[in-house]
Amino acid sequence: MKLYIIITLIIHSYTVRSANICAECVCRDSAKDNQDFLGDNIDCSYYSGAILKTDYVLPSVVYSLDLSSNNITQLEQSGLLKSTTLIELSLNNNAIKEIKTKELHFPQLKWLDLSNNQLEYLDKDAFRNVNKLEYLNLANNRLTTHEKLGFHRLSNLNELILNHNDLGPSLMEANLFDRDGFGLTHKIQSLSISGINLNRVPDNFFSDAYDIRTLIISKNNLSDTFEFPFTLEYLDLSDNPIKEISEEDFSDLPGLKVLKLNNLRIKEVPEYVFTPLHGLGQLELERNKNLTVFSSLAFGREVLDDPDDFVLERLSLKGSRLTKLEKDLAVPFGQLNLLDLQGNPWRCDCELTWLKTLQIEPEYYEHLRCAWPKPFYNSKIFELDSKYFSCTLSTHHVGLIIAAITFCVTLALTAVYIFVYIPKHQSRGSCIANMASASTAYTMLPINSPRSEP
Ligand SMILES: *[C@@H]1O[C@H](CO)[C@@H](O)[C@H](O)[C@H]1NC(C)=O
Ligand SMILES: *[C@@H]1O[C@H](CO)[C@@H](O)[C@H](O)[C@H]1NC(C)=O
Ligand SMILES: *[C@@H]1O[C@H](CO)[C@@H](O)[C@H](O)[C@H]1NC(C)=O
Repeated sequence: MKLYIIITLIIHSYTVRSANICAECVCRDSAKDNQDFLGDNIDCSYYSGAILKTDYVLPSVVYSLDLSSNNITQLEQSGLLKSTTLIELSLNNNAIKEIKTKELHFPQLKWLDLSNNQLEYLDKDAFRNVNKLEYLNLANNRLTTHEKLGFHRLSNLNELILNHNDLGPSLMEANLFDRDGFGLTHKIQSLSISGINLNRVPDNFFSDAYDIRTLIISKNNLSDTFEFPFTLEYLDLSDNPIKEISEEDFSDLPGLKVLKLNNLRIKEVPEYVFTPLHGLGQLELERNKNLTVFSSLAFGREVLDDPDDFVLERLSLKGSRLTKLEKDLAVPFGQLNLLDLQGNPWRCDCELTWLKTLQIEPEYYEHLRCAWPKPFYNSKIFELDSKYFSCTLSTHHVGLIIAAITFCVTLALTAVYIFVYIPKHQSRGSCIANMASASTAYTMLPINSPRSEP
């Protein structure tokens, strides 16, 4: 009887406490979401109050816990920060400044979001008890050097996001993959270092990252390209002051599928630059404000006639400064699933008429407009009749001028004729008479001569 009461009490206290967290937060059974993992999904985001300070515990089997947007300033010894089953933890959008040694106890945790905090310091043992981590997001924090940030414990890490931390200067001295530096695993597959104030990528920076597939290095201050790891499948170089791209840059990226080159300082997409990228499926060259030349040989010569090897499906040249594209590109561009040429100052003459033969979805031609000639400024290319795409428009003007000159010359000659030859004109009758009399005289000559001979 005594035992029964104790057991009831234990069960009761357990259910009360676990019911509490589900009374405060939104709990869903993950089995209902058709997930392979059992356990609850607990959403405590936007909880008003000090959620970690209250003595909640997690249910015994929990899959995910969302503690985002709670104004958490520090992690405490809370029952919510311990679970032997938790797989996903969201702590983003809080005000956490540091993570000390033993604050996170999640031996199964694979996914951790700490973005949008005020993190300055992560103890080198902070990840000791979360060492199965595969995904870590540390974007938008205040992390600066490897003395205050180390990934040595995270040997299973697959994807790391470090965007918008001032790490650039420190990466000049300490390599990301160096044991004495940040100690990031060489097995990393996806790395995002956008907006970290990186001025240059040091030589051999990625030489140890033998399996890296995704690299996002946008929004930095890179003025040159660098040696890209040859395993890359996704590369984003956008929003850097890169002045030039060349064939050599992409010559050793056989597996690259996606390439983003938006908002660079390039003036030209030169010939053969993308020829080595045999697997490229998506290419973005948007908002390149200095880009005026797109070589028709950018993808090489072969694809112009035989697009069998042209696997590109999506191409965007949106918002650049292109005025023309050569008709040679009609065959490969005709193969694309998506082509966005909007927001360029197109020169609508006979050399651009071929564009109208492309199958472009209405949503991608609304802003496909002429900037020249003046009468058609801002006209929608797909709504403007082909007959207006004229190269004779200028010759037409020349023709008019020639016609005008001819007219004036004719007028002048007529005037000269009238004024200079006017007397003869007046005596035209007598002239004819003279001619007539002369001929009479002449014809009369044989008649007269026999008469005068005798
Ligand atoms: C967050 O917490 C700090 C102190 O802990 C407090 O000053 C601030 O007003 C809180 N902000 C919000 C949005 O609750
Ligand atoms: C960006 O890099 C250039 C040289 O590459 C340098 O002169 C400039 O100071 C850098 N800008 C910043 C904000 O670091
Ligand atoms: C790019 O164009 C802008 C004007 O739009 C100009 O100020 C700038 O110098 C150009 N940059 C290069 C690298 O040519």
